Amino acid sequence: MDAADIQDDLARVLITEEEIQARLAELAEQVWAHYDDGQDVLLVGVLKGAVMVMADLMRHLPGSVPMDWMAVSSYGSGTKSSGVVRILKDLDADITGKHVLIVEDIIDSGLTLSWIRANLLSRSPASVEILTLLRKPDAAKVEIDTRWVGFDIPNEFVVGYGLDFDEGYRNLREVATLAPHVYS
Ligand code: XMP
Ligand code: MG
Repeated sequence: MDAADIQDDLARVLITEEEIQARLAELAEQVWAHYDDGQDVLLVGVLKGAVMVMADLMRHLPGSVPMDWMAVSSYGSGTKSSGVVRILKDLDADITGKHVLIVEDIIDSGLTLSWIRANLLSRSPASVEILTLLRKPDAAKVEIDTRWVGFDIPNEFVVGYGLDFDEGYRNLREVATLAPHVYS
């Protein structure tokens, strides 16, 4: 699949590369101030979708911060999340006493993230906050206290900037919806 092919598969670009980067720069500034210039903060990314958000958010921070990763699988039918989660890869480090900032690509129903948040809270961190690039307010099944949201988007399936359709399109620099021919 080459770059030209990817663009042919898109229906509509919802958020451009420039908009994403400008927003992440703003969020990074707020994160840095909130954590008193990054004191004791640990960024925790959720694989694989959050890879791009983590990389770019971190590079907008003016100082050094550690990161760690979790991978989870959500039991559910097809694309629907059930909220029953299995840890495929746990954090490398103990988070006792740490200020954990979960970095996510998207909050859809919120079920996966609310499970992850509860799981991390059970490990006695100093705090757990959430930053997500995207949120679909109309898809929410549970309320999650999310301190930083990049963009609220309509309840449509999106790809790009880490988000995939069948493992494709993660390398798009923008967030877009897919053309109907891709699904059929
Ligand atoms: P829940 O519903 O538990 O699901 O909040 C969160 C996870 O589901 C995936 N997801 C998407 N992936 N385009 C994607 O490529 C989407 O529009 C989308 N909505 C949800 C994603 O992995 C997210 O972490
Ligand atoms: Mg995700």
